[in-house]
Amino acid sequence: MKRIGILTGGGDAPGLNAVLRAVVKSALNTGGFEVLGIRNGFDGCLESEGIVELTRAEVRGILPKGGTILGAANRGNPFARTVIRNGEEAIEDVSDEVVARIAELGLEALIVVGGDGTLHISLELVQKGSPIVGVPKTIDNDINGTDVTFGFDTAVNTAMEAIDRLHTTAESHHRVMVLELMGREAGFIALHAGIAGGADVVLIPEIPFEFESVCETIQTRAERGRHFSIVVVAEGARPKGGQQIFSRAGDKLVLARLGGIGATVAKFVEQVCKMECRVTVLGHLQRGGSPTAFDRWLATRFGAAAFRLAEQGLHGQMVALKGTQISSVTLEQALAEPKRVDPNGDGVRTARNLGLSMGD
Ligand code: F6P
Repeated sequence: MKRIGILTGGGDAPGLNAVLRAVVKSALNTGGFEVLGIRNGFDGCLESEGIVELTRAEVRGILPKGGTILGAANRGNPFARTVIRNGEEAIEDVSDEVVARIAELGLEALIVVGGDGTLHISLELVQKGSPIVGVPKTIDNDINGTDVTFGFDTAVNTAMEAIDRLHTTAESHHRVMVLELMGREAGFIALHAGIAGGADVVLIPEIPFEFESVCETIQTRAERGRHFSIVVVAEGARPKGGQQIFSRAGDKLVLARLGGIGATVAKFVEQVCKMECRVTVLGHLQRGGSPTAFDRWLATRFGAAAFRLAEQGLHGQMVALKGTQISSVTLEQALAEPKRVDPNGDGVRTARNLGLSMGD
């Protein structure tokens, strides 16, 4: 029997279970393979109960389920792990232990399903000799080398539905509705949902905005008899010459938490436009729930393709979507630079053509 390992790292995204199911089914249907699931990201490599065999029974019925049956770990970086030494909490590099554990398990390949952070860890482990194949996951869609990551479509649909709902109440009450969306340093969720939901203003990290410009759009609409507006703000957006807003500082283990820019924009709009303003922070609703058909389709194809790479011993690769085809790129190529919205690209140009303000 050949063995394949699989883990899901970082924050969850709709479609993780679809990847797990596709890997297990592809391996078992090919024959001669068994699949080991590693619980809670790389942490499972270091825990006594951290490994579980994934049979058909474990993946039965999980295709429509959000989250991950293996568990995820935001603080699961083996290069900086919290350990207790002599009763004291310390941060240590335990990557050699992880590399040794992967070798000890006798894995043909370890399929790592993760976002930017988890895939960077994977690249470092590949450089230490671990046979890793990557699968790009994130609602933020901020990974290069693939046209899109799974989880993104579901998040955009959730955000679009929120905009639709805000529209009806905004119009009835003549209010300005500000919707703060996730995405970290990338504005893809805000831009795509903003266009799909017909927002009036979309503020993204890639295009610093001016408060005055946002207000001008809202006031012009009011002068034309449109006494309501929908303002979509990506959590990483910031005013020209200003700073991003964080709800919690980062530390050695986790990134600082973005959040609060929606409330800042709303306060300014209320003061200047003299219109009632309400803020909705959509938060983790964008991460939870059942994946869309597109995400199930993409995640399933990614899982099957990751198995094929593992079978061929093509380590250090990440599966990717290019146009309509599944292909692969090296982890190094994919991670050389993070993906961001192109301020001169088709998405932003489409928004501007439609008269949507980007706040600049
Ligand atoms: O990267 C995915 C993401 O949902 C970001 O959009 C968001 O900033 C972050 O994770 C939230 O992380 P957490 O769940 O740790 O608060």
